[in-house]
Amino acid sequence: MLVHAIPANAAHDFASDVRAGLTRSAQKELPSKYLYDDVGSALFEVISHLPEYGLTRADERLLRRHADEIVNRVAGPVAVAELGSGSGRKTRWLLEALCRRQRTSYYPVEISRSALTMCERELSDIDSISIVGFEREYLDGLLEVAAYRRPGQHLFVLFLGSTIGNFDRPAGLRFLAEVRWILQPGDALLLGTDLEKSSSVLLRAYDDELGVTAAFNLNLLARVNHELGANFDLAQFEHSARINHEARCVEMHLVSRRKQVVSIPGANVVVEFQEGETIWTEASHKYSVGEICRTATEAGFHCEAQWIDDEWPFAENLLVAE
Ligand code: TRP
Repeated sequence: MLVHAIPANAAHDFASDVRAGLTRSAQKELPSKYLYDDVGSALFEVISHLPEYGLTRADERLLRRHADEIVNRVAGPVAVAELGSGSGRKTRWLLEALCRRQRTSYYPVEISRSALTMCERELSDIDSISIVGFEREYLDGLLEVAAYRRPGQHLFVLFLGSTIGNFDRPAGLRFLAEVRWILQPGDALLLGTDLEKSSSVLLRAYDDELGVTAAFNLNLLARVNHELGANFDLAQFEHSARINHEARCVEMHLVSRRKQVVSIPGANVVVEFQEGETIWTEASHKYSVGEICRTATEAGFHCEAQWIDDEWPFAENLLVAE
């Protein structure tokens, strides 16, 4: 077992993203990738255990039940790259199945260093594995992993947890096409997608009774306070989950409870909020089973197989690069 990490090459430009997002004349927004600092990553880990939020458990159930079958459909030898590994808990099933067949190099790609550390700690006991973590944005990390590829070796890319749903549909298609562009024919992508379900189930999943999701969302403002010296009063903002029927997604917002002014010295900006005005922080798009294969085909893959959970509508889709 070998574990090491390749640290980030450039700091993300948090300050300029915050300034750009909060000075828009239309809907104010903050990029969702900034939700995952140390506190945010820990809170999301808690969300994944909440009874209302079945998504992560469905993903994990499918991977646990079908790991051998999934791995058997992937041509080898392979190296595994995971985009957004999180804690790595659900990846264990796939890696154990693969490691029974071959020594496996596993390359988690994560912008959250704490998630990367958690994931390396979680998986380092697997026999015949070597782990090299990349603290990178997804596509930058995947490009580097692809450069490590040995002759005759296929890549098996994991994009789990329905993170694809955090893109809108056209951007999701573009992202898949960019992944395909980095891959070679015969390489595989395992894509986790949350499926359409009733509004009431979705609203509970994204606005739980305990308020963990609210804390997770509000933590973004706490982060702006800590890192950019801002004076957001967290009690004056409220988490809100809303269904967008047209876009078939859940949107997460932070609603200003009153008219207020916030200064953010580290981003060199003062922002005014009207009462009821929102900061949009995330969207989670839900898919139909057929739509996933159509999108995959457009992006240059074929749909090799799909596995669907029977408790919480969620699909693992094995896509193979054409
Ligand atoms: N991206 C995950 C999802 O769409 C994470 C998530 C769960 C999330 N609850 C949230 C993101 C609330 C922002 C706010 O399911």
